[in-house]
Amino acid sequence: MVDLGDYVLRFTFHNQPAMDNTQKNIINTFIDQFGEPPAFVVRAPGRVNLIGEHTDYNDGFVLPLAIERAIWIAARPRADRIVQLHSLDWEETAVFSLTHLQKESGWIEYVKGVAWALQTADLETAGWEGVISGDIPQGAGLSSSAALELAAARVFQAVAGWPWQPIRMAQLSQQAENEWVGVNCGIMDQLIVAAGQGGHALLIDCRHLTTTAVPLPPTTTVVILDTATRRGLVDSAYNERRQQCEATAAFFGVAALRDVAYDTLTAAEPSLTPLHYRRARHVITENERTQQAAAAMQQGDAHRLGQLMNESHASLRDDFEVSGPELNSMVKIAQAQPGCYGARMTGAGFGGCAVALVASDRVETFVTAVAHQYQQSTSLTPHIYISQASEGTAVVP
Ligand code: GLA
Repeated sequence: MVDLGDYVLRFTFHNQPAMDNTQKNIINTFIDQFGEPPAFVVRAPGRVNLIGEHTDYNDGFVLPLAIERAIWIAARPRADRIVQLHSLDWEETAVFSLTHLQKESGWIEYVKGVAWALQTADLETAGWEGVISGDIPQGAGLSSSAALELAAARVFQAVAGWPWQPIRMAQLSQQAENEWVGVNCGIMDQLIVAAGQGGHALLIDCRHLTTTAVPLPPTTTVVILDTATRRGLVDSAYNERRQQCEATAAFFGVAALRDVAYDTLTAAEPSLTPLHYRRARHVITENERTQQAAAAMQQGDAHRLGQLMNESHASLRDDFEVSGPELNSMVKIAQAQPGCYGARMTGAGFGGCAVALVASDRVETFVTAVAHQYQQSTSLTPHIYISQASEGTAVVP
């Protein structure tokens, strides 16, 4: 008999206690350190992507939602140009000067990188001090880095007082990650973390940076299935996929694979290597699936959404080749359960998480069965998270 409590960490937005425990901890630590309550607290959520994978850097479509797990910072302004931040999770205090930003290493580089990006955009940056903590599992593909960046951006905004513009802040946070931290990610994670909407996923057009909020189908629950695997080579494989996509777009003489129609691709098959053909086929069909998924959600059609998620997984596994044995095993087990509309790997891939859409009244049996069967087939203990769609980055009351 599998004990549900071993696997499920439940976060139900509407029934959440008035103040989250992590938030309470940082406020208490802040009071211990500074002798008074913080001037404000910011919250930046993690994210899970329902469908639209490896499409953002091809100027395509994605359909993520912000989750209830988040990073919180309690802070107050300082009179000088120093940022001092104590991390409860890393058990260390980091300090840097806004006047002389210098690249070093560690978690603080995400904060420093955001300060750098704000400065390059001519936005005023002023000193502050505070305490940070979060409950987004790291390295699981739930965007703890983007959450850290956007939490930092929100603090800089609150201290300096310029208007909060979620899309612009997402772009500057992406620039921080690309150019300061050195990770070549697309815009999806930062944009959903900045602009998420409670109860909704966002259809994001990654070329025009426009968003459309779409509700989750009624009586369905999003279940995040962490395979408990992490892969070291994700970054190099990710960059390699990007290059393959860019080379194929260049072959067609267009800015990005978004501009290539499916028929144009199939007509060109003899001129492409099988590998480039398959990579492009994933991106082009995934863009189509993602827009169809948003339409299915508008109609409350959980069956259609689930079917598209299943197709997305097959395409990521066979054509884009970014899944892995544990992710495939998890998805297969999830898809076979009663009440599961669909399941797929989510995020960059190789290891990390899958996502499933499950009938709300079947969630408990689903979780128990998936946890048990996954453990039997891989000898790994999964972590399973149930999350409503939460709000994007904000100063919390
Ligand atoms: C990572 C990147 C995103 C996106 C996904 C794959 O999460 O940060 O920009 O490319 O992989 O869809």
